Amino acid sequence: MSEFLSLHDFVKAARRRLAQGEWDYLTGAAETETTLRRNRMGLDMLAFRPRVLNDVSEVTASTTFLGQQLRIPVLLAPLGSIQLFDGDGAAAVARAAGEFGTMMILSSVCLPDFEEVAPIGGGPKMYQLYLYGDWDWMDDLVDRTVKAGYAALCLTADTQVYSRRERDIAKRWVPRYAIRTVATDIVHQSRMSWATVDHLKKTFSIPLAIKGINTAEDARRAVDAGVDIIYVSNHGGRQLDHGRACIDSLPEVVSAVNRQVPVVVDGGIMRGTDVLKALCLGADAVGIGRLEGLALAAGGEAGVLRMLELLESEVRINMALMGVRSLAELDPSLVVPAAPLPAPHVLSAFPLLDQGY
Ligand SMILES: Cc1cc2nc3c(=O)[nH]c(=O)nc-3n(C[C@H](O)[C@H](O)[C@H](O)COP(=O)(O)O)c2cc1C
Repeated sequence: MSEFLSLHDFVKAARRRLAQGEWDYLTGAAETETTLRRNRMGLDMLAFRPRVLNDVSEVTASTTFLGQQLRIPVLLAPLGSIQLFDGDGAAAVARAAGEFGTMMILSSVCLPDFEEVAPIGGGPKMYQLYLYGDWDWMDDLVDRTVKAGYAALCLTADTQVYSRRERDIAKRWVPRYAIRTVATDIVHQSRMSWATVDHLKKTFSIPLAIKGINTAEDARRAVDAGVDIIYVSNHGGRQLDHGRACIDSLPEVVSAVNRQVPVVVDGGIMRGTDVLKALCLGADAVGIGRLEGLALAAGGEAGVLRMLELLESEVRINMALMGVRSLAELDPSLVVPAAPLPAPHVLSAFPLLDQGY
């Protein structure tokens, strides 16, 4: 039997296995970490309005996304320097995602690199792009991304300058692999604009996601520019501090997009109920960042696979308890605003941790 019986177990094992610097890099955020806590607060301030007496003997949590069958509507979000959590890094996540049956998004600042990871695990993958060069540099990279067989490209738009992550600053901790980019290349990232998006759409036919959208205005603009996936994210609170919870930005984006393209959201998603809340509010899929990192640190490839299985069982059980048999039945009538519980924090979805577990 697996050593991981509940999602709590991953947090405990990851805490034990990671050195303080790596733990803070994974769980920390920008400046006061308010955006990070709001991501959890937003989710905690939604309660379900379950329906009863629907036959829930057959529940399916699978979905189709970008033409691919996903076992649950959960994407593995891009994590830079992921090799700090497990020696196999992105290769371990690619194998777990392939075996489980969902999509991973590979960060452009992690190991192994995108051409090596592309065939691993056999599952569909997106490649996340940061701009560390001019348009010629970008075109060459996107060309190689297409040739490597990625299903989509994900342009991260919330990181045009680096934020101040005070846990790392206070401890003088720098992830080894990021040193090159911090020192030399951020200028290209800061020059990114809608012209970059137009250029990508004009030059390549690979589906394009924009990650980091928080408003109806930008969502609309992206759809008008031909963007194929709108990804609502605040980088897990690691970029702009004092932002809204992603779950609170989601409804205006969903309404602006008006079902023209799929909407993905991430930020604080740690439990099956979080996935369901996001889908009730109109997301087509969610991304998980820290939960992926915690599972990887806790148990490598097997840990990520087991975490996805447990997340799936939480999703399916709670769908049944809500009287819902398929994801298509989730709608805003199933959630309602609710008073917050005691102060949320990055790990507040795991209350046993505060009880000597
Ligand atoms: C350790 C770590 C590294 C990350 N690196 C990247 C990255 O390289 N590119 C990117 O687009 N987002 C990156 N993110 C943001 C995640 O893709 C995702 O948006 C965020 O983690 C979602 O919030 P959650 O951690 O609360 O699930 C990173 C997040 C973490 C925790």
